[in-house]
Amino acid sequence: MAAVPAPERGLTMPGDTSWFMRDRFGMFIHWGLYALPARGEWVRTTEGLSDVDYQRYFDRFDPDLYDPAQWAANARAAGVRYVVITAKHHDGFCLWDSAQTDFKSTNTPCREDLLRSFVDAFRAEGLRVGFYYSLLDWHHPDFPVDAYHPLGGGVAKRMIEGMGEEFSFETLAALPEDIRKRNEDRDIRVYAAYVRAQVRELLTGYGRIDVMWFDFSYPGAGGLPGKGKDDWESARLLELTRELAPHVIVNDRLDLPADHADVHTPEQVVPKEWVRVDGTPVVWEACHTFSGSWGYHRDEASWKSPQQLVRLLVETVACGGNLLMNVGPTGRGTFDRRALDALACYGDWLRLHGRAIYDCTASELTPPADCRYTQRGDRLYLHVFAWPCGELSLGEAAGRVAYAQLLDDASEVPLVDSGRALKLPVRRPDVLVPVVELFLRTDAP
Ligand code: GLC
Repeated sequence: MAAVPAPERGLTMPGDTSWFMRDRFGMFIHWGLYALPARGEWVRTTEGLSDVDYQRYFDRFDPDLYDPAQWAANARAAGVRYVVITAKHHDGFCLWDSAQTDFKSTNTPCREDLLRSFVDAFRAEGLRVGFYYSLLDWHHPDFPVDAYHPLGGGVAKRMIEGMGEEFSFETLAALPEDIRKRNEDRDIRVYAAYVRAQVRELLTGYGRIDVMWFDFSYPGAGGLPGKGKDDWESARLLELTRELAPHVIVNDRLDLPADHADVHTPEQVVPKEWVRVDGTPVVWEACHTFSGSWGYHRDEASWKSPQQLVRLLVETVACGGNLLMNVGPTGRGTFDRRALDALACYGDWLRLHGRAIYDCTASELTPPADCRYTQRGDRLYLHVFAWPCGELSLGEAAGRVAYAQLLDDASEVPLVDSGRALKLPVRRPDVLVPVVELFLRTDAP
């Protein structure tokens, strides 16, 4: 029996992760000017768009159908318990009326402080609100051009295209000379102060914010032009964040030692066991997309199937983590049909199976083949990925179960062979992932 690790590091951190580890399921929202090109949130870099090129989206950003109350209702119906929205993404565009910049929603045809109505609507639905804040900023004049920057001479583009192939860091380090020169006028100190001023606005102007999701660091190594804690002045930024919002959960992308983060955020991965950092189990949250891009992408064909979506949630909680599932709203301000359908998969499944997710965590018991366990106290939830014909042997849980039922309809599942196996119905329940609720014996030795 593998012991369930207590994520000591997270629990002793300043940020309040107690609600977070119960809520388990959140919604990520990537929304900004990049919804208009509809080719992903990295479009400026992947296509090497200049400020002038990108201006056409700023001039036409007019999400006339934006209805945050509707978004919040959709989120609630999908079963999420918290939301993290991109206050600013790498393009530098701000969804709020920041006093630090003109590059904000209130100066587009939309004219609105989009975060204001957003936080009000989500709170009204009883959901906690977090802000994603990009450390990168491709619009700010003091942000030095680097390999990821749209003006980086296509280095990032070549890198993205070259992913999977053999790739040499020399190409990345070889930023064209004229770009290096252009950087002489850019002062990262000015930018770091801008970041602090904006974070202050976000943490003081919008009520209680529960998560600050900074993204991301790519420190230099061996000539690689990157940015990290010295550029963002991360220690100061974190200090400010904790001072303004002592309860706020801060993620791990500031390039500070791992023990400075309340939550660790592996991206687009399904861990096979509780996530550890330097050998220590941590509070963790995996973020995923429905298709591939985070920002709205019209033409992507790689949408996950309903079953994959639900399995992602199960596999995450079965390893003691949270799932932050992303929606990229359109330029009209709507969740498109594909996103709504995907959300409905979660909503429908969680309506019947929420008991196996919320407030649950990894189990100490090893599940049978093609199954996952989640657990809350003496309730053990057996998520059956491949429905067997007839009996399912309980393995480690043999003899420890007092009663078993299907979770979708509370119909009894008989225990057979002195509690060593379950007698499953031949017909697999018609749900995306069937769950058997096992009532563990409390009198067990
Ligand atoms: C990456 C991407 C970014 C996305 C984020 C979500 O860091 O740069 O576009 O917002 O992942 O985790």
